[in-house]
Amino acid sequence: PDRLMISPYIPCCRYVSKAAAKTQMEFEYDGPSMKTEVPGPRSKELTKQLGEIQNVGAINFFCNYEESRGNYLVDVDGNRMLDVYTQISSIPIGYNHPSLIKVMSNPNNMSAFVNRPALGIMPPENFPEKLAESLLSVAPSGMSRVQTMACGSCSNENAYKAMFIWYRNKERGHNIPSDEDVSSCMINQSPGCPDFSILSFMGGFHGRTMGCLATTHSKAIHKLDVPSFDWPIAPFPKLKYPLEEFTRENAQEEARCLEEVEDLIVQWRQKGRPVAGIVIEPIQAEGGDNHATPDFFKKLRNIAHKHGSAFHVDEVQTGGGATGKFWAHEHWGMDDPADIVSFSKKMLTGGFYHKDELQAYRIFNTWMGDPSKNLFLAEVLNVIRRENLLEEVTRSGKTLLQGLYQLQDQYPNLLSSARGQGTFCAIDIRDDATRNSILLKARDKGVLLGGCGDRSIRFRPALVFKEYHVHMFLNVFSDVLAEHN
Ligand SMILES: Cc1ncc(COP(=O)(O)O)c(C=O)c1O
Repeated sequence: PDRLMISPYIPCCRYVSKAAAKTQMEFEYDGPSMKTEVPGPRSKELTKQLGEIQNVGAINFFCNYEESRGNYLVDVDGNRMLDVYTQISSIPIGYNHPSLIKVMSNPNNMSAFVNRPALGIMPPENFPEKLAESLLSVAPSGMSRVQTMACGSCSNENAYKAMFIWYRNKERGHNIPSDEDVSSCMINQSPGCPDFSILSFMGGFHGRTMGCLATTHSKAIHKLDVPSFDWPIAPFPKLKYPLEEFTRENAQEEARCLEEVEDLIVQWRQKGRPVAGIVIEPIQAEGGDNHATPDFFKKLRNIAHKHGSAFHVDEVQTGGGATGKFWAHEHWGMDDPADIVSFSKKMLTGGFYHKDELQAYRIFNTWMGDPSKNLFLAEVLNVIRRENLLEEVTRSGKTLLQGLYQLQDQYPNLLSSARGQGTFCAIDIRDDATRNSILLKARDKGVLLGGCGDRSIRFRPALVFKEYHVHMFLNVFSDVLAEHN
């Protein structure tokens, strides 16, 4: 019966009848297979066509998602690549996972795909149950509330608003606005629109909508020509890797940054723009895979507490298991790690967890997420548990990092600062031009990688990236490096 349900929609998976019983080895391809350069002729033709309709400046190539499987992305020219970038880190368990195809083909789920509701006003009957099965089953420590949203930026944007509303109510001592608040907010003036700020970090990335962009400081190109807020920006620690070999210097650098954070909070309060919240990534991703130690985050969390600012941990890229723990902040070992944790990407739906106090009735938009994504997420979590994927990630991640250390020893003029947690790894390349050339050469040999920061390569495989995929990757990477030495 499954066979009939599935075949009209997903031709590549029509043979999957007992989905969960298939092992990944049987399901997946056995390696990359390249037929043309990338982008190939068909991709180029389609880019031209799409160019007539929209901006195609960022397009790499066109994909054949029907034929893609597991860790392998197939393009429209028939090239099959080992995907170590996974749609900017957003595919949790690989392409066309049989368990997800099953969710899609279950008639009981049909209505969730066909009828997209305005969740904030008319949720479906099973919504509380599905939230409990999916998002709440992996809620960060100390958080039992979650608000879904559509994407990462949308989640952060609304989380910031929740922090501002919370802060203002705290100032007022109650949550009833004055007449002056109500009239002044209509013309963008205080006190209705208070001069509050969010403290963010140099090198951070929190999205590209207006509020998020004011806290994004990874690349000028994201920010250019867009008005912004006068909000404080603290230095993010610039640590030396491997972290355990430079503990003293790194601790000094972290102390310097923390001191600066406190100075900025005091300065901005004096300027009449108090810091309502601090936002930070557990590992700065787009900004270059910059790490800090658990000690840094613990102290930062305490500083936020001391000054009455909310602490928002942006796990849009780090969340969902890639660091070997479900949330990267779990590596800090804290019972009370944050007031807000935002997510998207591997979680399939955007949103944010929050403390009870940060509940805001005025956080609202039409969709408020998408219940069909909760169905997929619940199944992704089942697969993660059933297949012990966090352990797999830890194991693959160790092998990957060991391999990167070895290559770094072999090519000291080319590579430096290999670093990572789980498979969330990165390495620095001599310079920007060499980095970009390595990315393209690797792609032509069937391995998809991403860049981040000025001259880093980041590794963002799916959670089903096993040790044998790591070895396959390292072999190709090693060949590419030999060409650049
Ligand atoms: C840490 C972090 N926050 C926020 C975002 C923005 O998410 P989205 O692109 O879904 O708006 C990203 C996207 O890369 C991210 O890495």
